[in-house]
Amino acid sequence: MDTTQQNSSAWDKKVEEGSRYTQSVSRDVIEKSKAGDWEITVTTEKSVPRNWFPDSMTGLKILCLASGGGQQAPVLAAAGAEVTVMDLSPKQLEQDEKVAERDGLILKTVQGDMSDLSEFEDEQFDMIVNPVSNLFVKDIHVVWREVSRVLKHKGILIAGFTNPLLWIFDDNQERKGILDVKHSIPSSTLDYLAEAEVQEYIDSGQTIEYAHTLEDQIQGQMDAGFVLTGFYEDDFGGTRIIDKHIKTFMATRAMKLNGEAL
Ligand SMILES: C[S@@+](CC[C@H](N)C(=O)[O-])C[C@H]1O[C@@H](n2cnc3c(N)ncnc32)[C@H](O)[C@@H]1O
Repeated sequence: MDTTQQNSSAWDKKVEEGSRYTQSVSRDVIEKSKAGDWEITVTTEKSVPRNWFPDSMTGLKILCLASGGGQQAPVLAAAGAEVTVMDLSPKQLEQDEKVAERDGLILKTVQGDMSDLSEFEDEQFDMIVNPVSNLFVKDIHVVWREVSRVLKHKGILIAGFTNPLLWIFDDNQERKGILDVKHSIPSSTLDYLAEAEVQEYIDSGQTIEYAHTLEDQIQGQMDAGFVLTGFYEDDFGGTRIIDKHIKTFMATRAMKLNGEAL
């Protein structure tokens, strides 16, 4: 099973359907960003604190990783950064290209898998912004290592990801308002399907997702040479039953130090 190809096509399909994470920012948002009034999210609702970024964004080399959809990349470019956006889905990248063309922004788009950043040189970027997306990758340690390699010394990684608790419930039941504990962590979407259902799932063009442990998310960043310098939690904005009990998204700010003492 080629997960990468499946997820690339599934995200192209989401763009065609106009799903939430594929909707580009408006011209108005870009105009404000050009004037210095900007914000981005890497989770669901909350904006990344402004002080997670340097005061001046001018010329800052940012990689927006798995970040297609015309949101983070054009806003950061409008704020003055030199932005490259990488995503698996060609249609998600087209969303960024459309905003750039509409609003006169310079953006570099690269189609590829976040597990393989060989396209980029060592220590090429000042900052990497990675909205919730590592649920689409089986081994996130590879991603943390690649991210660390392409970041400069003292470069910043801002990453959004899910609290593994989100994955322990039966998804269909949860949407009906019933929290039915069924799954274990780590696991993948396909683990809970009968053999006959796997092909049906794949043919329906849905994404294959992976529930990672917090150790893989947090210690994984540390193992790749990062020191955590910021953290917050987020939720579905009250639209899902689980929001009543716990926030199931989180974001970290991490600095690449490679073992250097603070
Ligand atoms: C939830 S969206 C996040 C980005 C979007 N700009 C946002 O903030 O809503 C997840 C993104 O990850 C991308 N993606 C999934 N698997 C990927 C992979 N292995 N490598 C790179 N991008 C990937 C998808 O195409 C999608 O654009």
